[in-house]
Amino acid sequence: MLARQASKSVFGAVSRRAFSASASHATKVAVLGAGGGIGQPLSLLLKLNPRVTELSLFDIRGAPGVAADVSHVNTKSTVTGYEPEKNGGIEAALKGAEIVLIPAGVPRKPGMTRDDLFNTNASIVRDLAKSCADICPDAAILVIANPVNSTVPITAEVFKSKGVYNPKKLFGVTTLDVVRASRFISQLKSTDPANENIVVIGGHSGETIVPLLSQSGHSLEGQELADYIKRVQFGGDEVVQAKGGAGSATLSMAMAGARFAESLLKAAQGEKGVIEPAYVESPLFKDQGVTYFSTNVELGPNGVEKIHPIGKVTEGEQKLIDVAVGQLKGNIEKGVKFVKENP
Ligand code: NAI
Repeated sequence: MLARQASKSVFGAVSRRAFSASASHATKVAVLGAGGGIGQPLSLLLKLNPRVTELSLFDIRGAPGVAADVSHVNTKSTVTGYEPEKNGGIEAALKGAEIVLIPAGVPRKPGMTRDDLFNTNASIVRDLAKSCADICPDAAILVIANPVNSTVPITAEVFKSKGVYNPKKLFGVTTLDVVRASRFISQLKSTDPANENIVVIGGHSGETIVPLLSQSGHSLEGQELADYIKRVQFGGDEVVQAKGGAGSATLSMAMAGARFAESLLKAAQGEKGVIEPAYVESPLFKDQGVTYFSTNVELGPNGVEKIHPIGKVTEGEQKLIDVAVGQLKGNIEKGVKFVKENP
């Protein structure tokens, strides 16, 4: 319920009022990978957010062009584009950033799993995490680059190696799974998707994505339930296939990333009861070697304020959780091992 209220202020019914509100303090938000499919619409949505006063767009190519374009949108925030050799590079892009969103990295092509991206994206995320740890160690880091199940542990290991890791400030962005789960149930039940907020836990790939429909008040039976769960778990594949090799979800992901950033900013600026799902360091399955897990998280001025328990689940949902936990363990170990072997 709270999560629904939290997200609705910008991305639901009362969005116009929220967009015309004035910012209460200066906030620099950086996007790393701003020239890409996600980075561009994400930058646009952040430009529309009055809580953002300075927008910093970095990419190995194309960010100054995106910045020039987005900077003409008639909201007050300043926008600067950076490339490695332009405008002071990543150092200037990250200096003073309060929030850093990382959609840098390659997306999937048809037939690929998110784990297939590991070889390319692991080193991209590791290197960007090093820059963040050196330049803005206190920023909230929002990892969008896949495989999120592994890129979040990679980021944590880099921060740990530099002695600046703060588990309250590192988030894997799983908001899109909740957005999809909520939209898909509304299609089946003919409800307003803005009023749906399905709890989705676990990780962000295939069978690690676990929608807890039983907690929503909706029920589906038999094949319809199985199809719904499969669609939430593999919804990203619909987009990958439809784009036919040209990438994965970018527009819906941009919306989900901007929603998460907005929630963090609200919490940072003192709003209470802001709850979003996120893949964070979590005690819930630590005894099984799973150190990161996504559940609803209450956000506060210092990042993660409270990790919500999973709550009551059905026998079927428990089986899905068991599968997710098993897979996550391997994904997390792979990320940790990568940084140890490739510091
Ligand atoms: P894209 O290929 O369109 O854009 C990626 C951008 O990253 C490019 O502009 C590229 O130049 C830039 N880049 C590459 N290396 C960089 C570096 N070292 N520093 C700065 N920028 C760098 O890809 P797209 O579609 O934007 O996807 C980005 C990532 O987001 C992919 O890994 C994708 O799998 C992931 N994703 C995550 C989702 C989630 O729910 N967390 C949903 C959808 C995609």
